[in-house]
Amino acid sequence: VAQELSFGLVQQPAIVAHRGASTDRPEHTIGAYELALKEGADGLECDIRLSKDGEIVCVHDRTLARTSNGRGTVSALSLEELRKFDYGSWHRHGQPAGLLVLDELLELVKGKNVQLFVETKHPVRYRNEVERKLAEALKKHGLGDQIVMMSFSPTAVRAFREQAPDIRTVLLLDRLGRYRSGALPSFADYTGPGLHLLRNDPGYVDRARRAGHETYVWTVDNAEDVALCRDLGVRYLATNAPANTRRLLTAN
Ligand code: G3P
Ligand code: CA
Repeated sequence: VAQELSFGLVQQPAIVAHRGASTDRPEHTIGAYELALKEGADGLECDIRLSKDGEIVCVHDRTLARTSNGRGTVSALSLEELRKFDYGSWHRHGQPAGLLVLDELLELVKGKNVQLFVETKHPVRYRNEVERKLAEALKKHGLGDQIVMMSFSPTAVRAFREQAPDIRTVLLLDRLGRYRSGALPSFADYTGPGLHLLRNDPGYVDRARRAGHETYVWTVDNAEDVALCRDLGVRYLATNAPANTRRLLTAN
């Protein structure tokens, strides 16, 4: 059931560039985010971790092996050590690229008509230090309305909400479990089910809406899935290929 606005138009999902325009550029590099902006993404998504010396860096995996020429665990290396590696050349369309730190991404979005979805990783290990530091960084940059914090960990989302009550949050779901009915915990504004959950249970989006909230769905790249999300009335659609997804959304 498509979401109808009062004047009769179907509301299209907002397009969120997952790890930047990560099909065409190495994920979590400034070039991937710049391309996503150029392609007209409504939002950008990034994952953050802490370096050994407590700096917020944008790296998805626990270790460096997949997305750089470095080796080791992100949290075991200082910012200076992490900066020595190349984060771009591994990608098939890649060129040498430096480590992306959150400050740089915040500067990129500041003042632009784009939302930034920041996912914190490994909250248990860091005892919610990453959520505390994220709240501090957002305050320092004077960013609020443009930011959405996300995590798979309810503990992390709750901890962030205590630090930054005015900033929107997504509780990411890789199984519906206790949230199957569409229930939303008090500390979150949206739920973020994986696409695989909607394929099995497309009625979830409507149950969530009836329970009073919109959904953020990841990661949606092909025509069939884009059409499914649009027809269900998904609010935010995370995609690795923003320009192509826009084309698919507007094609029919
Ligand atoms: O946008 C949410 C999605 O990114 C969660 O999965 O592993 O890509 O961080 P992952
Ligand atoms: Ca993520």
